[in-house]
Amino acid sequence: MSMRTQYCGLTTEALLGQTVSLCGWVHRRRDHGGVIFIDLRDREGLVQVVCNPEQAEVFSTAEIVRNEFCMRVTGVVRLRPDGTINSNLASGKIEVLCEELEVLNPSVTPPFQLDDDNLSETTRLTHRVLDLRRPQMQNNLRLRYKVTMEVRKFLDQHGFIDIETPMLTKSTPEGARDYLVPSRVNAGQFFALPQSPQLFKQLLMVANFDRYYQIVKCFRDEDLRADRQPEFTQIDCETSFMNEQEIRDMFEGMIRLVFKNALDIDLPNPFPVMPYAEAMGMYGSDKPDMRVKLAFTDLTDVMKDVDFKVFSGAANMLGGRVVGMRVPGGSAMPRSEIDAYTQFVAIYGAKGLAYIKVNEIAKGRDGLQSPIVKNLHDAALTRILELTGAQDGDLIFFGADKAKVVNDAIGALRVKIGHSDFGKKHDLFDDVWKPLWVVDFPMFEYDEEGDRWHAAHHPFTAPKDGHEDFLETDPGKCIAKAYDMVLNGWELGGGSIRIHRAEVQSKVFRAMKIDDDEAQLKFGFLLDALQYGAPPHGGLAFGLDRIVTMMTGADSIRDVIAFPKTQRAQCLLTQAPSAVDEKQLRELHIRLRSVEPVVKG
Ligand code: AMO
Ligand code: AMP
Repeated sequence: MSMRTQYCGLTTEALLGQTVSLCGWVHRRRDHGGVIFIDLRDREGLVQVVCNPEQAEVFSTAEIVRNEFCMRVTGVVRLRPDGTINSNLASGKIEVLCEELEVLNPSVTPPFQLDDDNLSETTRLTHRVLDLRRPQMQNNLRLRYKVTMEVRKFLDQHGFIDIETPMLTKSTPEGARDYLVPSRVNAGQFFALPQSPQLFKQLLMVANFDRYYQIVKCFRDEDLRADRQPEFTQIDCETSFMNEQEIRDMFEGMIRLVFKNALDIDLPNPFPVMPYAEAMGMYGSDKPDMRVKLAFTDLTDVMKDVDFKVFSGAANMLGGRVVGMRVPGGSAMPRSEIDAYTQFVAIYGAKGLAYIKVNEIAKGRDGLQSPIVKNLHDAALTRILELTGAQDGDLIFFGADKAKVVNDAIGALRVKIGHSDFGKKHDLFDDVWKPLWVVDFPMFEYDEEGDRWHAAHHPFTAPKDGHEDFLETDPGKCIAKAYDMVLNGWELGGGSIRIHRAEVQSKVFRAMKIDDDEAQLKFGFLLDALQYGAPPHGGLAFGLDRIVTMMTGADSIRDVIAFPKTQRAQCLLTQAPSAVDEKQLRELHIRLRSVEPVVKG
């Protein structure tokens, strides 16, 4: 007989009367004085094994087994007695009457119960192997596999081929800090781990591979959050001879198919498309959560001549902005909730959170309840009500500051209210999948500290047709052929049409104050390649970890990565990073500034 004939979790009444051999771990052992029940677990789930005292050898083994022992069971499948059926299990109608019971390997006592739902993340990550045995993690990683399989099938069918690119490479500028690897054979020189395969995939287009993809690790030494890891996985794609619309259609199709086949979810067709300026204008974010039914009303012009200095000051300031956000039904919001929101927006730098409760418009000023209406003239009040479309019973929140502060603060407030109990009760949140393309990003963002423009996406992104001249005259006006796919407030992926002409690429570098010598030094290989008839090309990359996190509903991308790092970029399982001995450092021509972390050896 085979070691195993059947998965525990897939043993059902279809096998009634048959002898099966199962392998797995003891999930739980219950001694019912006379009969011992073992719930045996494998990757497909649980099955109940019954050990009777009549089977003396089986029974004495059953008496010593404990949780997480690895076992082999041979026995006969029979129906459970009436009243003991467990409808939560595929195997819930049956049990296995044990005839042979073998301990394949005992286990020491686990540091926690596997079905404890209140484990700290530190405990889980330190004992990741046991954590991964938990059904939730098993499901997450299997869904992740399903997603990558669907992606591979789709891309294969559409003629994309998987080509590996180097991990030891030169820095690519995606805007984060590089992880560096010292070279032993080239003293004093370093490789960078790729922040993405961006330049290699472009070179593959020049080299006539036409359609490339890779499911690939990327490395970024940046401050971590729930949706970021120092090493994460991209579904990285590039194609020649397709325009922006064609690329978006292709990859929207891929994501729709993945959601359908992996989760049986129908995403809308087509995804809505929104220019960046509109997203910032209405939601204060380039990745708006479209489930939230709240939007900004721009009031900058309306507030230029009001007495309230906070508003008129921001309205007249260069780069200032004043917005209102109407909250339907908000006049019922208690003061304590408004105070809590005022504290919340302070996290984003807002200096306050003015509001007007619209109790009864017909009563004019007297129908409005607010700490600020006394400082707003009639015309302004009328415009506010008109533009926001306020109705009796609403509340309008206001933000006034530099545009970035207003966008961050009121944008976050929008999401917060939408997701709150208040938002759910007042129908401000639509609990469905809301994908979106955000397009027409600016080419550059101004970096005040460095007094220079830097690329909003990356410096290989092509400007919109007709915008090339702005590169020299007014970089701030230059719009890029860049696009992001957003789902429920998360940026799932992004990409662009690339520059395929060397002279345009050089102009972009110059706009960023990268002079020709520096460009040659850093990106000479790209500029060279572009000179050999580089084809028009473009592409995008999705964050695989983020897609799977959204699909599972997990709180953090760490829950869909087998061996993730903590927020402090450490692996609690292996204790990496760790000190190395002096000999290794010497070989790498490295002397530490502080000797503290070095292991003597
Ligand atoms: P970008 O930098 O936007 O583009 O990255 C693409 C996608 O990768 C995911 N992502 C991350 N996921 C987890 N942890 C991180 N630290 C992290 N950083 C990014 C996001 C993001 O949308 N080369 C370009 C793509 C292109 O132009 O084709 C690039 O890397 O989901
Ligand atoms: P003050 O005149 O500072 O007492 O503020 C009056 C109201 O305006 C209070 O409700 C403040 O929370 C609010 N407020 C102050 N600064 C801002 C700001 N920058 N944006 C929005 N509201 C503000």
